[in-house]
Amino acid sequence: MGTRRRRVSVIRSRSKPVKWDDLRMEFISKCTADTISNAAQALTEGHLVAFPTETVYGLGADATNEKAISRIYSVKGRPTHHPLIVHISSINKLDQWATDIPEYAINLAREFWPGPMTLILPRKDLAKDFITGGQNNVGLRVPNQPIALGLLRKFEELGGQGIAAPSANRFGAVSPTTAEAVGEELGDYLDSDDLVLDGGQCSVGIESTIIDCTSKLPRVLRPGFLTDNMIEEKIQECLVIPRTQTSIRAPGMLARHYAPKAVIMINDNASDCEGFIALEHIQTPKNSIRLISPRNSEQMARELYRGMRLADSLGLKTIGIITPQGEGIDTAIRDRVEKASKSNT
Ligand code: TXA
Ligand code: MG
Repeated sequence: MGTRRRRVSVIRSRSKPVKWDDLRMEFISKCTADTISNAAQALTEGHLVAFPTETVYGLGADATNEKAISRIYSVKGRPTHHPLIVHISSINKLDQWATDIPEYAINLAREFWPGPMTLILPRKDLAKDFITGGQNNVGLRVPNQPIALGLLRKFEELGGQGIAAPSANRFGAVSPTTAEAVGEELGDYLDSDDLVLDGGQCSVGIESTIIDCTSKLPRVLRPGFLTDNMIEEKIQECLVIPRTQTSIRAPGMLARHYAPKAVIMINDNASDCEGFIALEHIQTPKNSIRLISPRNSEQMARELYRGMRLADSLGLKTIGIITPQGEGIDTAIRDRVEKASKSNT
């Protein structure tokens, strides 16, 4: 056991895939500068590195390495036509990946990067079909998390161009917001040369706001922490037009997404469930187990996925969720809860 541990922590010789439980302590390491350097090196060698961002944990690979990217798809069990977001260290890297960038997109990037925002832009040659799912645009994001930014900078120092990273969960499942949750999701699918960097609990807790910047006006494809109002307030020279049908393969178009094993019942149907999620001031129904009691919507976003995972780990069959009814982050919470509540059929 001791020998195997050492071999993994220095990211050297390949060995056969091992179960997460055997290596839990080793994959999850404290993130010193050395750890981050080792992780960046692992990426250049084609291994996968799961890392924290402010939204959710990502499963990272060198965005120019087709073989490494194909491992992301197999580890996630994700269909290959689903495009991946490329993470970059700063706005200065934008034009390596994108072309014909509209003025409003530059303004958005200046205002909100690093941050929980992904911009969809016309791609340059660097963004191959294996990243974009064959589409002519690419998703780009500068995350606002010290470990993520450290990893990106180190990787770029070693000659890397960007880190492709979908959320570090099995396809259709709940995004992980802790390193332990990454282990639960993907531990059985990762190799011993892959790494999971532990940055604790993600501060935002739900995935980035995705904005389509391929038309005259920006369009929010996936709501997130960054709300329509925040976008409109800061970027006065353009309007955010309402979400409509789009030819772009937008996130969460599948009926069921972000879903735990437990069945989710919303609002009026929430009172008769085994588990219960609502803001603190809302009383827990008789016979339900309270999963989280967030004080406000921001905290609810941060803890929502933890609550869903807790229900699964307790073996609960149903979760009742009372969703907040405001604008902004409440819209993003309702989006995730509604997608999670869709039946599998
Ligand atoms: O917060 C986040 O965005 C996290 C962290 C790790 O950055 N990432 C994330 O990635 O949520 P993922 O792959 O789980 O969800 C991204 C969604 C996918 O549904 C994908 O279809 C969509 O973004 N997407 C990525 N690139 C796209 C593109 N070029 N055009 C349209 N949709 C795109
Ligand atoms: Mg995802």
